[in-house]
Amino acid sequence: MADDTTDTKSSNQMWGGRFASGPDAIMEEINASIGFDKKLFAQDIRGSIAHATMLAHQGIISAEDKDKIVHGLNTILSEIESGNFEFSRQLEDIHMNVEARLATLIGPAAGRLHTARSRNDQVALDFRLWVKEELQKTEQMLTRLIAAFLDRAAEHAESVMPGFTHLQTAQPVTFGHHCMAYVEMFGRDRSRVRHAIEHLDESPIGAAALAGTGYPIDRHMTAKALGFREPTRNSIDTVSDRDFAIEFLSIAAIAGMHLSRLAEEIVIWSTPQFGFVRLSDAFSTGSSIMPQKKNPDAAELVRAKTGRINGSLVALLTIMKGLPLAYSKDMQEDKEQVFDAAESLELAIAAMTGMVRDMTVNTARMKAAAGSGYSTATDLADWLVREAGLPFRDAHHVTGRAVALAESKGCDLAELPLSDLQAIHPDITDKVYDVLTVEASVASRKSFGGTAPSEVRKQIAFWRARN
Ligand code: ARG
Repeated sequence: MADDTTDTKSSNQMWGGRFASGPDAIMEEINASIGFDKKLFAQDIRGSIAHATMLAHQGIISAEDKDKIVHGLNTILSEIESGNFEFSRQLEDIHMNVEARLATLIGPAAGRLHTARSRNDQVALDFRLWVKEELQKTEQMLTRLIAAFLDRAAEHAESVMPGFTHLQTAQPVTFGHHCMAYVEMFGRDRSRVRHAIEHLDESPIGAAALAGTGYPIDRHMTAKALGFREPTRNSIDTVSDRDFAIEFLSIAAIAGMHLSRLAEEIVIWSTPQFGFVRLSDAFSTGSSIMPQKKNPDAAELVRAKTGRINGSLVALLTIMKGLPLAYSKDMQEDKEQVFDAAESLELAIAAMTGMVRDMTVNTARMKAAAGSGYSTATDLADWLVREAGLPFRDAHHVTGRAVALAESKGCDLAELPLSDLQAIHPDITDKVYDVLTVEASVASRKSFGGTAPSEVRKQIAFWRARN
């Protein structure tokens, strides 16, 4: 198996020519990346097959050697997939593990695979392919999350809830409108993902160590075979660049921040004090000591994952900061950050999609809360502007007095008798009561992007067509 280390004990079998003895144990430990970059095995093998095929097509290696190489690589792929491959730390990384195994399987022809390439362009290729696939997966997961929100929004286009600013009751809104706010956020995240895919859609292979190569390779051929739009245009940049990984992390950090806000709202909404939503049993936990508890653990963990993702972004930015061109081994530290953030993001999106889809919405609680806290005060002020011709600032003042009076009487604005309101401003008529209900309040906010059910339905239709 690949752990055939006959040569590596004394010196490395890949560059043993120059080295008289093998690495110190600590050197091996700090240097090896196989522990995490084995995740790139499928991309590594795909890249090598495309490279070998191109080498043969260009007459750089024989068709016979190419066939042996491709057959051997496919064998290795199934060995790894079926768990019958022994990874060796002495062979440092995934690239050398695969190549060493290929040599055992097919003999000297294996040595021709590394013609006209370097591990520098090889790792840039493998990692780009991995990040590209992850971005595609993220795009699909965000689409599912958006779809879950669109369903809830359609169901609750008319359900009134309090809208908050400073977490204080502000104005009534609909739950559908609030759901659509998240559709906008995750929609922006998804377009960032799409742009990132476009950005990274260039093939690094053929940049070689940093300077390109003297062999007559065809980089357009490998780019096409690997599903890239075109080859990268500067070999130095190609092996130096990890923007695509940083872009993935920044997209993940922004999406994670959005998810954490949703998580926090779910935590608040599901408290007995709010009681706006009830999480399904599938997405909550109990307490080992307090039988009455139903805890929003998944939401809390989503909120926490954001911290990990931000950490990964800052870590990779710091790793890359100030590195001279071209490749430096520092860059090997890129992968764990991206792998960890990708896992966190996937879990967070999946958990949120489940929670949003399954939670029970308590519309009665929401409506009752929407009516408390003088949430229609702005509607009274607007009525005074519209019907009594007051300047908005004066209307604001009059309304403030009405709120103070209601507060002192311990009642809602709509419960103040007309005589009380007229004592504050003589032009108030009983028509004012039409705008003091929460339903009238939301229905009146028909401005584009506003909370009126009719407007929310338009926005749902827009996103359904876009999704
Ligand atoms: N394991 C290395 C990495 O992840 C592969 C590239 C090594 N290149 C080199 N010149 N030592 O970055």
